[in-house]
Amino acid sequence: MLFVDVTPKAWARILDIRRGRACACCGRWSAGERAALDLYGPLARRDLGPVTVGQIGQSLDGRVATVTGDARDVSGPDGLAHLHRMRALVDGVVIGVRTALHDSSRLTVRLCDGPNPDRIVIDPQGRLPDDAPALRDDGARRFVIQAVDRTRPNGVQVIRLDRHKNQLDPAEISARLRAEGLHSLLIEGGGITIARFLEAGLLTRLQVAIAPLLIGGGPQGLTLPSPSAELANALRPQMRAFSLGSDVLFDCGFTPAAAEAEQPQHIGLLDKSTG
Ligand SMILES: NC(=O)c1ccc[n+]([C@@H]2O[C@H](COP(=O)([O-])OP(=O)(O)OC[C@H]3O[C@@H](n4cnc5c(N)ncnc54)[C@H](OP(=O)(O)O)[C@@H]3O)[C@@H](O)[C@H]2O)c1
Repeated sequence: MLFVDVTPKAWARILDIRRGRACACCGRWSAGERAALDLYGPLARRDLGPVTVGQIGQSLDGRVATVTGDARDVSGPDGLAHLHRMRALVDGVVIGVRTALHDSSRLTVRLCDGPNPDRIVIDPQGRLPDDAPALRDDGARRFVIQAVDRTRPNGVQVIRLDRHKNQLDPAEISARLRAEGLHSLLIEGGGITIARFLEAGLLTRLQVAIAPLLIGGGPQGLTLPSPSAELANALRPQMRAFSLGSDVLFDCGFTPAAAEAEQPQHIGLLDKSTG
């Protein structure tokens, strides 16, 4: 397993990659810094095409919250810092309305340097109150994807979609967000929302951060609407494991493009990295 050491120097380089001002290959890096460039570098690049990353933080027994809905500290401090780094690297963060209601998520970047992403809430039935933290006006663009006629606060952009079999099509959601200039998306939860994107074949990567605690009950990280009946048919993505410190990250690639982006030569981390 690779230990990720996100030093200020490595993070500054990653933000420069995001701005298109630097590559990941030049410079002297420790092994941990190199792992950080390996993990975040491909996601920071804007020349590799659109990416959609699902990310979930869960306990050893696969829970994302307690039976009473307490979800604040499932991830350890390094898992949370990772989540904020992911937010800083993408154009937009997508959550389902249940997460917006339960967690009062702000979806801002507070645990590292970097820009706040635009925020998108999928709220087909118009359940989210106007004063929800995700809709707060703090400079980021805010979108609500909905299937009903409902006015939202000034400045919040409504994307109205029709339901098919009672669902909003993740492909339509992605297309409408890309038309708004949001080419890299973090699907931050919850499990229902991530599962819809996964089953639609739209996730480039799925990141599962596991924290060393046992909760014993509560909502599970990911439950697919169409589970595999046999292990032979289970999804088996390409996987890299990273130690973040307090949490372990399983970084899974689902598309050939994602697998290619993992190759060291693709992000320039082979011989030149110690130059
Ligand atoms: N640990 C973590 O990483 C993490 C992250 C996020 C959330 N959480 C926890 O996860 C729980 C909430 O997650 P959840 O899985 O229950 O719900 P969720 O994914 O947050 O929200 C699901 C809801 O969003 C709407 N939705 C999303 N995608 C849709 C689609 N393609 N078509 C139609 N509707 C769509 C539906 O709203 P309607 O019901 O109105 O139809 C659906 O029921 C909370 O306990 C939260 O604390 C944990």
